[in-house]
Amino acid sequence: MNNILLIGCGHMGSALLTAWSSKTNNHFFVVDPAQYKNINKRLNKKIHAFKTLNQVRGFLLFDIIIFAVKPQIAKRVLEKFVSLQFKKSAVFISIIAGKKINFFNQFLPLRNQFIRVMPNMPAIIDQGMSCMVSNRYVSRTNKNKIELLFSKVGLTLWLKKEIEINKVTAISGSGPGYVFLFIDAFEKAALQLGLGKKSTKKLIRQTVSGSVNLLLQEKKSAEELANNIAIKGGTTEAALNILKKNNDFHNKLKKAVKAAFLRANALSK
Ligand SMILES: NC(=O)c1ccc[n+]([C@@H]2O[C@H](COP(=O)([O-])OP(=O)(O)OC[C@H]3O[C@@H](n4cnc5c(N)ncnc54)[C@H](OP(=O)(O)O)[C@@H]3O)[C@@H](O)[C@H]2O)c1
Repeated sequence: MNNILLIGCGHMGSALLTAWSSKTNNHFFVVDPAQYKNINKRLNKKIHAFKTLNQVRGFLLFDIIIFAVKPQIAKRVLEKFVSLQFKKSAVFISIIAGKKINFFNQFLPLRNQFIRVMPNMPAIIDQGMSCMVSNRYVSRTNKNKIELLFSKVGLTLWLKKEIEINKVTAISGSGPGYVFLFIDAFEKAALQLGLGKKSTKKLIRQTVSGSVNLLLQEKKSAEELANNIAIKGGTTEAALNILKKNNDFHNKLKKAVKAAFLRANALSK
């Protein structure tokens, strides 16, 4: 059993709290001025929520401290940590995009154990992808503990270097956005055939989820599966010929992923 302090319980923080409070026997102390009342209303004996950090007592109790606030207010929150004392074995986690471990070091104890995690939105339904990188002071026990926690909301991957966080931000972090945009474009394109909104949506959602599940079960790559279905002279080939013309589709996506990576680099400066 660990005592976990979660600072910020918005979209991502609450996805983590919901999964962890139902799937582990840890105790949770949550600080969030916007959410604390709703959280306390749940009357979960394992969760205690507070409006501000000043109301939290006994920082030496915490085994895991998680920062899940927006990047813009990270400094304001961290400044309160300068005078606090923590267990030597405590591990600090940040899911805040763009804030490097060095940023946190200005406010935390010397030689603190720190892990940066980049989760993604499907963590809300326990289908997330969380990429993690640690500083050199993190113990094996803490690494295992944090990997186990994030495995409750999906798959995990350890990175070797902190710079790689910006790469995974552009892939799995922002990736759900690319997928949703593709589905939106597909839905709008399909509507022109006049089948009606409800049926079109149903067809597309099942087609997308069925195709992804097929890809996960097959040994073939996405490219091979696309080619297999595009029989010469057939309907799929007619559509793919348009999408593949001049490599437009691939090139656009290449540019998009690169733009996300460059933005992640810029934000972490
Ligand atoms: N959402 C994602 O898909 C995703 C993916 C990867 C990483 N992240 C990272 O996760 C972090 C949180 O993202 P989010 O989408 O969960 O944001 P969010 O929904 O805005 O959640 C942040 C929460 O922190 C609260 N807060 C504000 N000031 C606070 C304070 N002083 N102390 C404690 N809590 C405070 C906010 O309340 P108010 O609403 O009143 O400000 C809000 O409830 C971000 O840094 C983001 O980069 C998010």
